Amino acid sequence: MGAGIANVTIDKGLSTVLIDNSQQGLERGRNQICTHLSQQQKRKKIGLLEKERILSRLVSSTDIAALKRADVVIEAVFEDLPLKHKVIQQIEQHVGKHTVIASNTSALPIKEIAKASARPDKVIGMHYFSPVEKMQLLEIIVHDGTSKETLATAAQLGLKQGKFVVVVKDCPGFFVVRSLAPMMSEVFRLLLEGVSPEEVDKLTKNFGFPVGAATLADEVGLDVAEHVAQFLGKALGPRVAGGSPQLLSELVSQGNKGKKTGKGIFSYGDGKKGSKKVNEDAVKLLARHKLVPPTNCSSTEDRQLRLVSRFVNEALLCLEEGVLATPSDGDIASVFGIGFPPFWGGPFRFVDLYGADKLVGHMNKFADAYAREQFAPCQLLLDHAKSGKKFYKN
Ligand SMILES: NC(=O)c1ccc[n+]([C@@H]2O[C@H](COP(=O)([O-])OP(=O)(O)OC[C@H]3O[C@@H](n4cnc5c(N)ncnc54)[C@H](O)[C@@H]3O)[C@@H](O)[C@H]2O)c1
Repeated sequence: MGAGIANVTIDKGLSTVLIDNSQQGLERGRNQICTHLSQQQKRKKIGLLEKERILSRLVSSTDIAALKRADVVIEAVFEDLPLKHKVIQQIEQHVGKHTVIASNTSALPIKEIAKASARPDKVIGMHYFSPVEKMQLLEIIVHDGTSKETLATAAQLGLKQGKFVVVVKDCPGFFVVRSLAPMMSEVFRLLLEGVSPEEVDKLTKNFGFPVGAATLADEVGLDVAEHVAQFLGKALGPRVAGGSPQLLSELVSQGNKGKKTGKGIFSYGDGKKGSKKVNEDAVKLLARHKLVPPTNCSSTEDRQLRLVSRFVNEALLCLEEGVLATPSDGDIASVFGIGFPPFWGGPFRFVDLYGADKLVGHMNKFADAYAREQFAPCQLLLDHAKSGKKFYKN
């Protein structure tokens, strides 16, 4: 992620320092940037001179002191709170008093991250999406102590990087990952019920998602997914349950971390078209943890709605709780962050178009077949179902 963030910064004319504590990690990052720019050159999007000009803005180092003149530092180390604390304190030893320190955490509350800082008003969340070069969203997260100047600096940088910026309040998972977590849990339940990864991809793509949900899990990284599932499982409780964190742990402990390790739910061979196959390790583990599905929730439409309703319900809860300021913030974040089917317009527009009452009917059927906490419609959805009220006037 760090390399992707650096990449969308140097190509907008900003000098950037890429730091990693391992030479290997640093080279991996630099190679990722060089490969991306070479592809751009091959496709004639940039010339050789421009490529060299962009690369000349990048300094890479294993010495954190190289950050000393930075106005903004974005940390993207492993998703581990004590490590993030350590890194923030190291950064603060070298940067100026004005420097904004942003965390690209997927789910850890910014308030918790800011506890290690000597100037929490300068700490903010800047949550990018993978691959950073392609995904247009930047979710900015403010904690109660973040200053207005810090927010303005972070938003200005995001806009310069060419991102759609949505500002949300601090909570575990923020908006996008929090809404995605119950849906990903349902993806794993479908796999455990014997729906093949190809079929999971097909039914989500047919619904309108640009990337199939099983492939999305591999793109995000099964280690990241495991961490988020466990963390949000604790923070949000049974609403996130349904899949199997145990299955994810076993997959990850065998080295199946997703695309980055060449195998996750799928194995990626040499990366050429047609080399992607279902990973045999995943097949064995799925068979070992197999679940028997109820008969009345397994049509293609049921499976699609089981996934989508869990995303939509959590998104509405975020509006209900004030994590989101408006329905359109949630719709923009969902379409540009995880590719919620654009023709549905996002979860809020989906409720308006599909019908809140119809959706509540399906969710109640799923709640009876599985667990009520996983599918119980939130109050806002129930209110819209009862009153016929819409999120948008037209
Ligand atoms: N992968 C995603 O799709 C995604 C999306 C959004 C946010 N994130 C978040 O971004 C962060 C990084 O995730 P990732 O998938 O890029 O992980 P990654 O394992 O690919 O990269 C982490 C890098 O941090 C380096 N590192 C570790 N400790 C360090 C230290 N003390 N100083 C400097 N560098 C150090 C490692 O060498 C490694 O290169 C996590 O917080 C994750 O939750 C990931």
